[in-house]
Amino acid sequence: QMNEKMVKALNEQINNELYASYLYLSMSAWFETQNWPGFAKWMKIQSQEEYGHAMKIYDYLIERGQEVTLAAIAAPKTAWKKPIDAFKDAQAHEKKVTGNFQDLTDLAIKLKDHATQIYLQWFVSEQVEEEKNVDEVIQALTKIGDSTGALFMLDHRIGKREG
Ligand code: FEO
Repeated sequence: QMNEKMVKALNEQINNELYASYLYLSMSAWFETQNWPGFAKWMKIQSQEEYGHAMKIYDYLIERGQEVTLAAIAAPKTAWKKPIDAFKDAQAHEKKVTGNFQDLTDLAIKLKDHATQIYLQWFVSEQVEEEKNVDEVIQALTKIGDSTGALFMLDHRIGKREG
């Protein structure tokens, strides 16, 4: 039987991941309205990944015979000033999620829940990757500044993301 604090924290993380999925989908929709199909595609794929993260935790709770309790998902922002502002919000959210997984791991250690601790390792590594991916885009957008031509090229390059 899992400790109820761990179950509650994992359920909260399902919500955080679903919120991330919702936030990136909102960004994708905004990029579409701004005619940046590459950024829109990147965010749509990212949104699907986040849904996948939520489901990974969902499946883990089910596998351990625990209750999944889905809560309301907060409404994300729907507009940004510039592409870089959306990516900066994405970066801030990823940093928060990295902190969430650190806290979850600390809790698993405290509760001597070794199975959950090992299970969480995948997410801890994934967060390194997630932060790196967003950071790369922000670096490129920072270099570009207000050059529309360069922004077009970056949008095209980023739209090549497949998964
Ligand atoms: Fe599910 Fe981007 O962290």
